[in-house]
Amino acid sequence: AGSLGAAAAQSGRYFGTAVAAGRLGDSTYSTILDREFNMITPENEMKWDTTEPSRGNFNFGPGDQIVNHAAAHGQKMRGHTLVWHNQLPGWVSGLSASDLQSAMDNHITQEMTHFKGKIYAWDVVNEAFADGGSGQHRSSPFQDKLGNGFIEHAFRTARSVDPSAKLCYNDYNIENWTDAKTQGVYNMVKDFKARSVPIDCVGFQSHFGAGGPPSSFQTTLTNFAALGVDVQLTELDIAQASSSAYASTVNACVHVTRCAGITVWGIRDSDSWRTGENPLLFDNNGNPKAAYTSVLNALNAA
Ligand code: G3I
Repeated sequence: AGSLGAAAAQSGRYFGTAVAAGRLGDSTYSTILDREFNMITPENEMKWDTTEPSRGNFNFGPGDQIVNHAAAHGQKMRGHTLVWHNQLPGWVSGLSASDLQSAMDNHITQEMTHFKGKIYAWDVVNEAFADGGSGQHRSSPFQDKLGNGFIEHAFRTARSVDPSAKLCYNDYNIENWTDAKTQGVYNMVKDFKARSVPIDCVGFQSHFGAGGPPSSFQTTLTNFAALGVDVQLTELDIAQASSSAYASTVNACVHVTRCAGITVWGIRDSDSWRTGENPLLFDNNGNPKAAYTSVLNALNAA
């Protein structure tokens, strides 16, 4: 197939990108988006600081813009993200424990209800594990006030609001199998499955350095999938975008049956949050780079 989305679809997978609502009016951008991608993640528009900037005041306009674009162009959506310590408005971190619990429940409920039926998978909780060797949750308003159970509580709430959306845990630096952070997330998912806490997928952000994925990446994906969850590459970008690093990344996914799809974190290098690293598949003018061809070939070979 001649586009990323169509090539991925041949093996039942999707190929997506992060989208910024403010760029949809740029025709170079939207032409590539609609030609190549069949899954969209809003880069910022469904985060708490945008969707509930003050308590109980919801703003779904920017998210709706992207959802409407996706609906008009046959693209599916990943919802990103309901509970995260970043892009969290100040009013949330100022709440008492009991107020925070009800604010979190209400946020999940209102946002998932608004977008119900339009989201393939939600990143219910994002980046809750600490970097480094602890394998424990990081400090955050949620962790510090609600304790370890906040993740489970968020997933149970999410399931009750929209039983047909897939519910994902999403994080970065969990691609290398032996890392403590990877093991921490793995043990959480194993525990959730054992106790029937509703979780359907794990998102591996896959923000890689120039060397690309760790050699254990496919093992990591296989081991998580064996717990009974889908795995997804949710925010892929690679410093300098070498063709071989991109090919190994795509191969790690397509060799794992339950790897449902891959999302890159932006379209052109100039759209990337990694300024100066040229980590994406299209150059600043919207021309496909060598890495694009290697990704397309790897998808077509799957
Ligand atoms: O919207 C304001 C604008 O009003 C203001 O004038 C401008 C001035 O700085 O800032 C704008 O907000 C920026 C926002 O992106 C929208 O462009 C923020 O400063 C900036 O911090 C924010 O960065 C986003 C970052 O998350 C923040 O956490 C990036 O675009 C986004 O790509 C990045 O995405 C995250 C994922 O959600 C989670 N995983 C890591 C990934 C990369 O950091």
